[in-house]
Amino acid sequence: MTDASIPRPRKTSRSGRKVQQTKAEAHVFETSEDAASDVAMTIAALIRKKAHQGDPVVLGLPTGSTPVGVYRELIRMHNQEGLDFSNCFTFNLDEYCPIQPDALQSYHRWMDENFFNAVNIPQEQRRIPRGDFPRHEGDIPRQEVADECAKYERKIDDLGLDLVLLGIGRSGHIGFNEPGSPIDSGTRLVTLDSVTRKDAAEDFFGEEHVPLHAITMGVGTILKAHTIIVLALGEHKADIVRQALEGPRTDRVVASFLQGNVKAEFILDEAAASELTANKTPWLVGPVSWTSSLTRKAVLWLSFQLNRPLLELEDVHFREHGLHELLGNHGSAESLCQSVFNDMMATICPHPAGLEPKDVLVLSPHPDDDVISMGGTLIHLVADGHRVHVAYMTSGNVAVFDFEVLRFADFVAEYCTEFGIDPNRARDRTDMVRESLRKKRAGQVDDPDVQFIKALIRKTEAKRAAGSLGIPEERLHFLNMPFYQTGSAKKRDLSPKDVTIVQNLLRELRPQQVYVAGELSDPHGTHRMCALAIYQALDELAKSGLKPDVWLYRGAWQEWEPHEIEQAVPMSPSDVRHKREAIFKHQSQKDYAMYPGHDPREFWQRAQERNRHTAEIYKALGLPAYHALEAFVRRRSER
Ligand code: F6R
Repeated sequence: MTDASIPRPRKTSRSGRKVQQTKAEAHVFETSEDAASDVAMTIAALIRKKAHQGDPVVLGLPTGSTPVGVYRELIRMHNQEGLDFSNCFTFNLDEYCPIQPDALQSYHRWMDENFFNAVNIPQEQRRIPRGDFPRHEGDIPRQEVADECAKYERKIDDLGLDLVLLGIGRSGHIGFNEPGSPIDSGTRLVTLDSVTRKDAAEDFFGEEHVPLHAITMGVGTILKAHTIIVLALGEHKADIVRQALEGPRTDRVVASFLQGNVKAEFILDEAAASELTANKTPWLVGPVSWTSSLTRKAVLWLSFQLNRPLLELEDVHFREHGLHELLGNHGSAESLCQSVFNDMMATICPHPAGLEPKDVLVLSPHPDDDVISMGGTLIHLVADGHRVHVAYMTSGNVAVFDFEVLRFADFVAEYCTEFGIDPNRARDRTDMVRESLRKKRAGQVDDPDVQFIKALIRKTEAKRAAGSLGIPEERLHFLNMPFYQTGSAKKRDLSPKDVTIVQNLLRELRPQQVYVAGELSDPHGTHRMCALAIYQALDELAKSGLKPDVWLYRGAWQEWEPHEIEQAVPMSPSDVRHKREAIFKHQSQKDYAMYPGHDPREFWQRAQERNRHTAEIYKALGLPAYHALEAFVRRRSER
C-alpha cells in the first residue's frame, strides 16, 4: 500500500455479529474488507503474543481469491505498524500437481507475489507442498509424491500448527480435500473435483489445462491445529456455507467436519452468509427485533412459502409459521399485509426520475454494466426527457480476447488501404500488434498498444450500446480510473486520484439523481472498488451541499432480495427486446466472456432472467403483473 492510498476504514475491535444456531461458530461482517481485516487482526494478535513469549508461531496458509484481503492487511500492518513476522513458520495447505513453482498458477509463485515478498518470514521457515514432479510415462511418480507428503506431514507434526486459515471451495473442500476425503486423512495426492477444476479454469485459460491432481494437507492434518478459521466471501459461497454450517456432517461436504469443533470458526461477509437460516429467516431461530425491513421480509417470505398473494394471508397463517409476534405488533394480518402491499406498490416506478427534466448520472464500473443492469430504466429516463449521462469508470480492457484485437487491427489496415489513408503506416501498426500477440505467453500482461486497442474496442461498443438507447455521445464519459490500469485482473488499491476523478465529474454535472452498481460479487471486486470511490466522492461533496438521490443497481452478478427493493421500474416486452439489443452491442462480451464468474449464463441472459423473475415475484405477491422489472435500492449514507 502506498502513502497515497486511501486507508480502508478499519475496526479496532471485533465488529462482526455471531450467527445463531449454526453447527460451528460463525461470525458475519458487513463487508468482505471487514471480514478480512478481522482475520488479519486475529493472526497479528497471535504473532505478537507468541513473540512476546519468545515462541515461534506456526501458521497453515491458503491461496485463492478469498485470503487476498487478509494478506494485504497483514502487509499493511507490517509496513505501517511494524508487525514482525520473523517468528513465523508457515505451511501452505496445497499445491497443484504436477506444476512448476514458477508457473503462473503455482501456489509457490502466488504466495511470493501476494505475501512472502512483502513480509519478513525467513525463506527457510516457509513451506509449500512440492508440485514439480517429473512425470514418468505420463504419470505422476506416486511413491516419490507419497514420500514427500509423509515428510511434509512429519514436519507439521514436529512444529505443531497454531492456526490454520482456510477458504472453502464450492465443492465443500477445505485445502483440496474434495468430497469423499476421510476425516483422518493426512497430506496426500488427491484428484480434483470437477467443480474445483471449473472454478480454476479462468486461471489456467481453460478447464482442459487445469491439473487433474493436487497435493493437500489432509482433513486430519488441519484438525490437529489449535485454531481453525474458515473465511468465506461472496454470494457464490452462500450455498456451500449453508451446507457446511447447517447441513449434515458428511464427507460429501468436507467443511462440515468442522461442525461441533470448538477450535473452528467461520468468518463470513453478508453475501456468503445470506443463505443461513439466521439471516434468511431469523424469526425461525430466535427472538428478533422487528424493524420495518425485517417485517417486510417476513411477510413476503410467508406469502412465498404459502404461495398466496399478500392480501390473501390470514392470522392463522402467521400463527402457524412462527410469526404470531408480528400480529401482536400490527393488530391483524389484514392491516399488516395491507401496509406491506402498499409499500410494495409504492416501489413500482415507471418514471424513475419524475417528469420534470433532470440531470441523471449513471456510473458504470465496466463499459456494459449500465445496459445490463438498468437498460430498461435508461429507456424510461430518456423517454421522460431527462439529460442522461453515463460514466464508464474503467476501460474493461482485461476482458477482451486477443482475437478481437486481431480482427479490428486487420479491419483498420484494410479500411486504410481501401480509402488510401496512409496504408503503409496502418499495415505496420497491424504487423506490430500481431507480433506482440504472437510473442505473448499465456497470462502475460498485454503491451500498452494492445491494452489501448482493447480499451478502444470496449469504448466503441459502449458508445453504440448507449446510442441505441438514445444517449448521445457527448453525454458519455470515459473515466479510466487509475486503480484498474494494471493490464491484469489484479487491481491496485484505490487512490485519492480515483476519487478526485469521480468528484470532478459530479461537480461538473451536478446531477439530481445518481445510479451506482451495488454488487458484492463481481469476480475481481471492481464494482466494489468503484462504489467505494463514488461514496467517498459523494460524502465529500455532501459537505458543500451537493446531495443527489443515489440509487444502487444490480444485475450482472447478483440481484436484490425482494424485501430490499425500493424502486422497481417496469419493462414492456419491447423494452426487454430493446435492452437485449443494447447488450448485444457489447460484442466482445457476447457468446462467451473472458470472466463469466460462476454463472454459466451469458450476461444478457442473466439480466433478462433476473428482470423477468422480479416481475414474477411481484405477480405472485398479488401486485400488478409486468413483463419484467429492474430493481433498485436507495443508498443511505451510513451504508
Ligand atoms: C487454496 C485452498 C482452497 C481454496 C478454496 C477457495 O489454497 O486450499 O481450499 O481456499 O478453493 O478458493 P477461493 O478463495 O479462490 O474461492
